[in-house]
Amino acid sequence: MFNMAEKLLNSSRNRFCFNKSLQLAYLNDLAQDNGKLWFGTAADIPGTAEQTDKDYLRILTNPKNFGEITPANMMKFMYTEPQQNVFNYTGGDYVLSLAEKNGMRVRCHNLVWTSQISDWVTSGTWTAATLTAVMKNHIYNLVTHWGNRCYSWDVVNEALNSDGTFSSSIWYDTIGPEYIFLAFQFAQEAVKKTGKDIKLYYNDYGIENPGTKTTAAYNLVKELQARKIQIDGVGLESHFKVGSTPSVAAQVAAKKGFLDLGVDVAITELDVRFVAAPYYTAAGEATQAQNYYDSVVSCMQVGRRCRGITVWDFDDKYSWVPSAFAGQGGADIYNETLQRKPAYYAIAEAITGVPCTVC
Ligand code: G3I
Repeated sequence: MFNMAEKLLNSSRNRFCFNKSLQLAYLNDLAQDNGKLWFGTAADIPGTAEQTDKDYLRILTNPKNFGEITPANMMKFMYTEPQQNVFNYTGGDYVLSLAEKNGMRVRCHNLVWTSQISDWVTSGTWTAATLTAVMKNHIYNLVTHWGNRCYSWDVVNEALNSDGTFSSSIWYDTIGPEYIFLAFQFAQEAVKKTGKDIKLYYNDYGIENPGTKTTAAYNLVKELQARKIQIDGVGLESHFKVGSTPSVAAQVAAKKGFLDLGVDVAITELDVRFVAAPYYTAAGEATQAQNYYDSVVSCMQVGRRCRGITVWDFDDKYSWVPSAFAGQGGADIYNETLQRKPAYYAIAEAITGVPCTVC
C-alpha cells in the first residue's frame, strides 16, 4: 500500500518532494482528465470577507482548480425564504453567476435540514399538514427558480443519527419520517415541472465506511426506490479528523454499497481537521496528506459513478472548522496564507495514481 506519510517524512528533500509533473498540477484539471466531473469546493460567499479577498478569489475562480462550487450557506432555508413565501435568491444567484462565468457546476445545497431554518418556521405552531405545505412550497420555489443551473440538489441533509435512527428536527418531530420521502417527492415533481435534468441527492456524514448509519442510508435509498421516488445520488460528506480517517478499503466498501443500489456517489464536504494545534508540523501534515489521499483514492477506485470530490472550504484562512470546533483547525488543502499544503499534492497523486518519483 502506497504510504504517503512515510514518503513525506523520509523524503531527503523538503516536505514538498513530489513527482515533478504534479508540482504544477491543478486538481480540477487532473480530476476531469481522470474520469471525474469535478474537483470542487464549498464557498461561503457572498457576505463574508472572502467576497473581497483577491488572493482567495483568484484561487476559487480558476477552473483549473475547481470545476464545481457548493454554496456553503446562501441556498439554505433561512437565507432563501426569510419570511413565509417571500423568497430571496440573491446569494444563490451570486454563487451561480460566479460558477457559470468560470464554467463550473454547482451542487445546490440544501432544501431540508435541521439547521439554518428561518425563525418563522422554528417558532411557528404547525400541524403535519401545514408544515408539509411549507416544505412543499419551499422546495417547489427553489428547484423551479434555479432549474438546471443546479447540477444537483441536496434534497435532505443529515437526517440520520449515528445509530441509524432518524434525527430530530422540526420536520421529523412534526411530520414524522414521512418528511424525507415527501421532500424527495416534492423535489421530483418540481424537477419534472422544469423539464430539466437535475440530480437529487441525499447528503450526510458518517456514512463513509460500513456501519449502522451507512446501512440506514442504504435503507433510505431502497425505500425511495421502492416508492418510485427519484433519488440519483448520495453525498458522503467526509468530514474527518487527522489520524482517524476510515481506511481506503472501508471507504471503497461504503461507496460500492450505494453504487450497487444504482445511485451515484460523490465526496461532498471533504476536510480533515486537527483536533488541536499545532496544525503545521511535518508529521501532522504527512498524516493529514495520507488521510486526504485515502479518501480521494477511494473515489477513484470505484469508478466514474463517484462523480466528483468537493472539499468543504479549500483554505485554513476562512475554514468553518475553528468557529464550529474551538481549538480545532488546519483542516484544508491550502494554509492560512493560501499556500498549497502536502494534502494538496496527495490529492493530485491519488487522482492520477502517479506515485512520488523524486522522494
Ligand atoms: O450570516 C451570519 C452573519 O450575519 C454574522 O455576522 C456571522 C457571525 O455571527 O454569522 C453568520 O452566520 C454564520 C453562517 O455560517 C454564515 O457564515 C453562522 O454563524 C455559522 O454558524 C454558519 O456556519 C455554517 C454551518 O454549516 C452551520 O451549521 C458553515 O459556514 C457551513 O460551512 C456549515 O456547512 C455544513 C453543511 O451545510 C452541511 N454539512 C455540515 C457542514 C459543516 O457544519
